[in-house]
Amino acid sequence: MSDAPTVLIMGPPGAGKGTQAAHLVSAYGLRHVATGDLLRSAVAEGSELGVLAQGFMEAGQLVPDEVTIGLLRELVGKLDAGEGVLLDGFPRTVAQAEALEQMLDELGRGVDVALDIRVPDAVLVERLSSRWICRSCGAPFNTASRPPRVDGVCDSCGGELYQRADDTAEAVSKRLQVYVEQTAPVSDWYQQRGVLATIDGNQDAQSVQASLDEAMTA
Ligand code: AP5
Ligand code: MG
Ligand code: ZN
Repeated sequence: MSDAPTVLIMGPPGAGKGTQAAHLVSAYGLRHVATGDLLRSAVAEGSELGVLAQGFMEAGQLVPDEVTIGLLRELVGKLDAGEGVLLDGFPRTVAQAEALEQMLDELGRGVDVALDIRVPDAVLVERLSSRWICRSCGAPFNTASRPPRVDGVCDSCGGELYQRADDTAEAVSKRLQVYVEQTAPVSDWYQQRGVLATIDGNQDAQSVQASLDEAMTA
């Protein structure tokens, strides 16, 4: 692993990317770049990007590659040379993976490890239907596995909890289908490059964290 690693956290909707990202960024001093969070902020602000992205997101479809690749190029360009980064939710298509490789190459960097969290579909559906998110800091909660101390209130920042517009049964089913068709091939792409670490995400969050730590220090 380099001093300023480039780490990917991948996996289907509800795999626990956001949950585990919180630990990884603090334990390894990484900057968290989550394209889904950035796009949701853009939608909330009603910016040009948000207006463009909203319909795709609510339908459970991917925002077009040229948009997300442009967004990422801007963010990667702002990284300090000595700064490690955790990409959450990017790349999601092989075209995005190829674009990322080129962007990183220009900076003399490459992907150190692609952490790929696997969870069965039935478990994902269950998790997403009981998920609540903090409107202020984005922290994920779950009425079954990780309830907030006070109903509707974020443990970390006191923000209001809400359910995502794309966590409806219909959108979740579309997101799972899109994952299989467009994102699963990205795992094979990193496997071929020798940086893929497959993580069993169907365990309690502490055990998933331990598996991720093992992969980070391998
Ligand atoms: P994005 O925000 O990235 O959503 P996603 O990939 O569907 O994943 P989620 O955020 O829903 O799940 P997560 O893996 O973070 O799980 P979490 O930790 O919250 O993207 C949203 C949309 O934006 C896309 O559909 C697309 O439209 C667009 N987009 C984003 N990036 C794009 C890109 N690169 N290209 C094109 N479009 C893009 O956990 C889920 C729940 O489970 C929580 O309630 C949590 O508390 C609970 N939980 C977590 N771990 C465990 C555990 N081990 N046991 C039990 N419960 C657990
Ligand atoms: Mg997430
Ligand atoms: Zn919060």
